[in-house]
Amino acid sequence: MPLKLQEIELGDFDTMTDHANIYPPGDDLVAPPTPICWLVTTQPEARSRLEFHMTKQRERFLGDTSARYLKIIDEETGEIISMARWHWYPNGYSYTEGIHWETHNAVEGRPWPKGMNVELHNFVLTSRDSQRQQWQEEGKPCWILMHLVTRASQRGKGAASMLIQWGVDRARKDGVPAYLEAGALAIPLYAKHGFRQIGDPIRIDLRGHGVNADFLGAKMGLFPEVLVEGQAGEKAK
Ligand SMILES: CC(C)(COP(=O)(O)OP(=O)(O)OC[C@H]1O[C@@H](n2cnc3c(N)ncnc32)[C@H](O)[C@@H]1OP(=O)(O)O)[C@@H](O)C(=O)NCCC(=O)NCCS
Repeated sequence: MPLKLQEIELGDFDTMTDHANIYPPGDDLVAPPTPICWLVTTQPEARSRLEFHMTKQRERFLGDTSARYLKIIDEETGEIISMARWHWYPNGYSYTEGIHWETHNAVEGRPWPKGMNVELHNFVLTSRDSQRQQWQEEGKPCWILMHLVTRASQRGKGAASMLIQWGVDRARKDGVPAYLEAGALAIPLYAKHGFRQIGDPIRIDLRGHGVNADFLGAKMGLFPEVLVEGQAGEKAK
C-alpha cells in the first residue's frame, strides 16, 4: 500500500466532502476539536458536518497565506487518506491576526449548522490558541502544525508520520522551531519525531460548555538545537 504525499489542490476539498457519500459516517477528514463539538451517526449528518468543515478549509486555503495544505494518497486506490495543515510564520504567530480563521462567527446568509456546539468549538480554540503567546517565542519565525487527521479506517499505516516529517524537514532547513498542540493520544507520535513537551499539560475544562470532560493535550516544540544535535549524531554513527 504505497503512500504518496502531495500538496492539496482546490478540487480536493470537494473530494474530501464527498467522503460522506462513500464511507461510513465519520470515516472522514474532520479534525479535532470538531468531532467532540458535533457528533454524527448518520450519513446525512456526516455530510452536513463535512460540508461545513471543508467550506471553512477551502476559504482558508484561498485566503490564509501562511497555510500549507498537504494530503496523503493511497496510490493503490487513489484515495485521500490523511491531511495536514502546516503554517509558516516568518514573524511568529499572532493570536489577534490568526484567531478569526479558527472560530466560527455569524455570517449573514449562513445559518449556524444544526447539531454543532459552536460555542464549545470556539471556547476550545480560543483557550488553546491564546496560550501560544506564552509558550512560543514571540516575533520569531516558526512552523506550526495546526491540523492533522487520518481517516479512522486508514490509521496506523504511517500517513500522519509522513505529514509530520514534511514540517520537521522544513524547520530543519530553515533553522527555526516547529510547534504544535497535541491531543493526549497523539503525544507519543509527535515525540517519535523529536517534539518535546513545553510547560504544563493542556487541560481545558469543558463542563461549562456542554461536555462533562476536560480537553487534554500538550504544548510541544522541536528546536533547531535538537535538529542540529540529531544531524551531528547521525554523522557520528
Ligand atoms: C493521530 C493520527 C493523526 C495518527 O494518524 P496515523 O496516520 O494513524 O499515524 P501513523 O500511522 O503515522 O502513526 C500511528 C501512530 O499513532 C498512534 N496513534 C495515536 N493516536 C491514534 C489513534 N487514535 N488511532 C490509531 N493510532 C493512533 C499509534 O499508536 C501509532 O503509533 P506506533 O507507530 O508507535 O504504533 C490519527 O490517529 C488521527 O487522525 N486521530 C484523530 C485526530 C487527531 O487526534 N489528530 C491529531 C491532533 S493533535
